[in-house]
Amino acid sequence: MTSRIQNDVSKILTHDNNSPVLKLSGNGSLKYLKNRVEGLVNQFRSVIDNNSFYETAELIFSQVSDPKELAQCAELSSKREPGGAFYRAKLWAKVSQIIETKRKSNSNELRLSQVCSQAGVNLTRAKGFIIQGQAIINLEEAGIDTTILRQASPLLFQYAQRQKNGAKEYLIEAIKFLENNSEASHTQIHRNWCKSNGSIKTNLDIIKPSDWWAFSHPKWRKEEDFPGSIPGEIYANALYYFAPQSGIAVDPMAGSGMLKRVYDDREHWQKDSNFRLTIKLFDLYPRRHFIEKHDARIPLPIKADWMFIDPSYYGQSSHLYNDQLASANSYDNYLSIMKEIIVALAASLNSNGRLCIFLPKWSGLRHEDLNYDVPSDVSAMALACGLTWLDTAYVSRGRQQEPGSATKNNMAKHDRRMRSDTCVLNVFSKLG
Ligand SMILES: C[S@@+](CC[C@H](N)C(=O)[O-])C[C@H]1O[C@@H](n2cnc3c(N)ncnc32)[C@H](O)[C@@H]1O
Repeated sequence: MTSRIQNDVSKILTHDNNSPVLKLSGNGSLKYLKNRVEGLVNQFRSVIDNNSFYETAELIFSQVSDPKELAQCAELSSKREPGGAFYRAKLWAKVSQIIETKRKSNSNELRLSQVCSQAGVNLTRAKGFIIQGQAIINLEEAGIDTTILRQASPLLFQYAQRQKNGAKEYLIEAIKFLENNSEASHTQIHRNWCKSNGSIKTNLDIIKPSDWWAFSHPKWRKEEDFPGSIPGEIYANALYYFAPQSGIAVDPMAGSGMLKRVYDDREHWQKDSNFRLTIKLFDLYPRRHFIEKHDARIPLPIKADWMFIDPSYYGQSSHLYNDQLASANSYDNYLSIMKEIIVALAASLNSNGRLCIFLPKWSGLRHEDLNYDVPSDVSAMALACGLTWLDTAYVSRGRQQEPGSATKNNMAKHDRRMRSDTCVLNVFSKLG
């Protein structure tokens, strides 16, 4: 385009009524110019039109199979908003998939690092985009419509990436949130996620400075098939304060295997510790492949340096578990089983080993019910086995805040029967 036409076009576009071009009429020049402008505007539209960008990016995703070309396209799309972050992630994930497939079939020695250096992208950054893109692809393969995420900012995908294995779930929640609040910012989306899943700040807050432990948004979610697990933060604090750096750590009543999940995630809470523990899990009714069957009334097949038990609670767990503690028909019966367990576990401790016992008090619902101080009664058993009391922490059960507890709270006040809302963690040592 000549500079004269460019000048005229810009005048038309800016509605400059003194434009000499507008004064031209009848000789076809105005029509010519109008057509030029229309063509230019269409060209401009096609450059910035979201849909043609999305369509082209999808075509590249489905048809280009050369990792280096894909990586180039990924980096090109990053220059564009909206849609850039979404397609950068998706295309990098495809790069990684192709390299991996070729590596498995021994048909290619191309490495991700080579593709990265050719595309001018740091390897760690590319790995981050791959995690983001794989989460998007997983959603699409599960039949979930990701269209709404195309508009999302790069930060949303970075937050998803930080959730590691939870990246897909993060994006699912983001989609749901955006469907109800299409203008939501990444910060609002992230805040919504943190409300139910905890946050980086929660991670930093996992270790408590005092003996009062309350966790409003537990980081480790309950698994659907095991509603009776305790917040993982309790295991994290019990390890942090009372476990040796190395040795054998055992949960003889492991339930869902929460100890293993928390230990595997120790980079979130161990701070300057460097735990190198061997984790062993047992249960009378193992529910995970990594839990061995063992009755805690019998000494363990190994000796432990740190042990944590969260036994089925008296009078309130028969709907969750089948064991004798959960179904004990009297408090005496419950205590006699607990005594067998404590004797067997005390015998299974190495010298200087620690035993953590996590239990709530029992408060019956009716006025005539007796209260039972289960933590103290079981502590007496540990002392009788020659263990030495080391410390106690008090842990909120958060029952007052549970959904549907308003009536129970009112009844408790009306009947002058305090609900049991605290678990007690007593820690003992086997002095050598
Ligand atoms: C409250 S749950 C433990 C939950 C676990 N702390 C978690 O967070 O997943 C109690 C567990 O103790 C187990 N149990 C009860 N009696 C047992 C016994 N005699 N020996 C071994 N395990 C037993 C039950 O099967 C149940 O899985």
